Amino acid sequence: MEKFRINGQIPLKGEVKISGAKNAAVAIIPAVILSDGICRIDNIPNINDVTLMAHILEQMGATVKMINKSTFEIDARNISSHIANYDSVRHMRASSYLLGALLGRFHKASVSLPGGCDFGVRPIDQHLKGFSALGATHSVEGGLVNVSTEKLVGDTVYMDVVSVGATINIILASVKAEGTTIIENAAKEPHIVDLANFLNSMGAEISGAGTDSIKIKGVNYLNGTNYSIIPDQIEAGTYMVAAAATGGNVLIKNVIPKHLESITAKLQEIGVTVDEYDESVRVSVNGPLSKCNIKTMPHPGFPTDMQPQIAALLSIVNGTSIINESVWDNRFRYTDELNRMGSKISVDGKIAVIEGVKELVGTSVKALDLRAGAAMIIAGLAASGTTFIEEIQHIERGYENIVDKLVSLGADIKKIYSPEKDNIPKAL
Ligand code: EPU
Repeated sequence: MEKFRINGQIPLKGEVKISGAKNAAVAIIPAVILSDGICRIDNIPNINDVTLMAHILEQMGATVKMINKSTFEIDARNISSHIANYDSVRHMRASSYLLGALLGRFHKASVSLPGGCDFGVRPIDQHLKGFSALGATHSVEGGLVNVSTEKLVGDTVYMDVVSVGATINIILASVKAEGTTIIENAAKEPHIVDLANFLNSMGAEISGAGTDSIKIKGVNYLNGTNYSIIPDQIEAGTYMVAAAATGGNVLIKNVIPKHLESITAKLQEIGVTVDEYDESVRVSVNGPLSKCNIKTMPHPGFPTDMQPQIAALLSIVNGTSIINESVWDNRFRYTDELNRMGSKISVDGKIAVIEGVKELVGTSVKALDLRAGAAMIIAGLAASGTTFIEEIQHIERGYENIVDKLVSLGADIKKIYSPEKDNIPKAL
């Protein structure tokens, strides 16, 4: 079994370069299915979710050439099947984007029900509502979601909940539909804008991405393109919080500071210094840090994908903070792990009350999901003693080279294998 071993309380110092956005990449790669040409995509993060998505396309008949570790050239014109019934599909939430992309191209799609991080019920009713507005019917049989129609015709779709995945899927299904589709109450996340820009670079006619009303005028043909994915907002935010939690001073490069505004605002409220430059932010700690209340919300609100990481920081600031998780039903399971390191967090439904403590103490914890795992790393970097993090496959799904990047900032973190299990400190 692989684990991370961290010897904590070393302030992070130096520079770190942020990779391309995971959640943009896992939408843009399946979007290539809609292209009538070859797509060269740069700034692709080298992470397991992306490798898996590219592999799924290959299994379906696409050619995926890795030009270098962050550039893929994908030719999906040879895909002839509308079915993505593979074991791997089930393990990734973003595989639901294959529904929209295959429906858009073949007017029918069959895809296994999505998996991904487990933090409550993850319905796809809004995705299906969108497909049905475009004329498609659906059924669920033997774990497969099937959608089909004779032809896709644009219409107005009002989303009952703001959903990133449903917004993306409706864009994918409608980009080659007849007429105009309007998505009202659309999600506004940076990766939705990135997907729209990618499709527009192929000749799509999408306007309003980044607002809550997106208009898609259907086109018949999408040419190939060269496109570079935006930097990862959540990876950047994770390093910002790690720098703060260790009392460090880190220049975080290759970011879009505008995408980080809600994270920057909360860090400043806590007392962290954040200096913004054109394509980088510097995070440093120059005084005491104190409590702050946070409510997660769809973009431009504070991202739910930063909630566990900021909770790790709030565990060691002065005073009592409250986090209200308003996006997911059950995203506080990791707090039991943080409490094992000495944090004082009590959870009631979607509210967590975090009483700041003087310090966390290293022990053995689990990465329950991707962002929960990032929170364990932050806690381990800030804690006294040694922290062992198990189930790191969740972390490696979404953070490129996290060990190397942290080591370059001075952290003492190492990936170890089970024979080193005996090094677990006596306190355990
Ligand atoms: N929802 C519905 N019906 C639907 C779809 C969603 O009720 O048909 C609800 C969900 O249950 C949830 C809320 O709407 O309560 C938001 O879900 P959304 O659809 O926006 O989430 P998602 O598309 O499944 C993406 C990210 C998640 C991130 C959420 C929210 C990707 C691949 N995943 O998931 O990212 O937490 O948006 O911002 O883009 C991560 O990167 O760690 C991660 C989990």
